[in-house]
Amino acid sequence: MDPIYERSSAAVTVRRALPGDAEAVRAIRNHAIEHSTALWTQTPQSSPESVAWLATHLERGSAFVAETAGDVAGFAVYGPWRALDGYRYTVEDSVYVREDRHGLGIGSALLAALIDSAGAAGHHVMIAGIEAGNTASIRLHERFGFQHVGTVPEVGTKFGRWLDLTLMRLPLT
Ligand SMILES: CC(C)(COP(=O)(O)OP(=O)(O)OC[C@H]1O[C@@H](n2cnc3c(N)ncnc32)[C@H](O)[C@@H]1OP(=O)(O)O)[C@@H](O)C(=O)NCCC(=O)NCCS
Repeated sequence: MDPIYERSSAAVTVRRALPGDAEAVRAIRNHAIEHSTALWTQTPQSSPESVAWLATHLERGSAFVAETAGDVAGFAVYGPWRALDGYRYTVEDSVYVREDRHGLGIGSALLAALIDSAGAAGHHVMIAGIEAGNTASIRLHERFGFQHVGTVPEVGTKFGRWLDLTLMRLPLT
C-alpha cells in the first residue's frame, strides 16, 4: 500500500482500493442507485460491470476505500470530467458512504485522500456535480474549499421529477 494515501484515525482508515473490494463497493453504489438521487440512474450495477468499472480506476490509481472495524464503509473515485483531451487536467470526484455510517467523518477522510491523490497525479481542477438538494454532499465539499460554480436546472430526472445539478470546483494546483 502506498503510505502517502493511507489516512487513518481511530475510527476510519482510507486505503487504495483493491480488486477484492468490488462487491462491497457495488453494494454501496447500488444502495445509492435504488434509494437516492445521488446517482441519476435506476439501473443497478451487475457484478461483472462493477469489477470492470473498478478495474478502470485501479489502473489509474483513482479509487479508495474507507474501512471501519475491518469493513468497507465507503469508497471514493475520481475520473475524467469530460472525454476530450483538452479536459485532461480536470477530474470529477464521487464519494459514497454506507448509509449506517453517515456523519462519522468517513466521507471527509475519503475526499481528503482523493484531493491529495489527484493533486499528486498532476491534475489542475476537481469538479463535483451534485444533485442540488444533497445538502450532505454540498456541505462535505464546502468543507474542503470547493466553491459553488452554479446550478443547472432540470438536467436530470429520477423518481418522476426533474433534478438540478449543482457544480462545485476546487483548484488542485
Ligand atoms: C455525502 C456523504 C458522502 C458524506 O459523507 P459522511 O461520511 O456522512 O460525511 P462526514 O461525516 O465526513 O461530514 C462531512 C460534512 O458534511 C456534513 N453532513 C454530513 N451529513 C449531513 C447531512 N445529512 N446534512 C447536512 N450536513 C451533513 C457534516 O456535518 C460535515 O460538515 P461539518 O464539518 O461542517 O460538520 C454521505 O452522506 C453519502 O454517502 N451520501 C450518499 C451518497 C452521496 O450523496 N454521495 C455524494 C454524491 S455527489
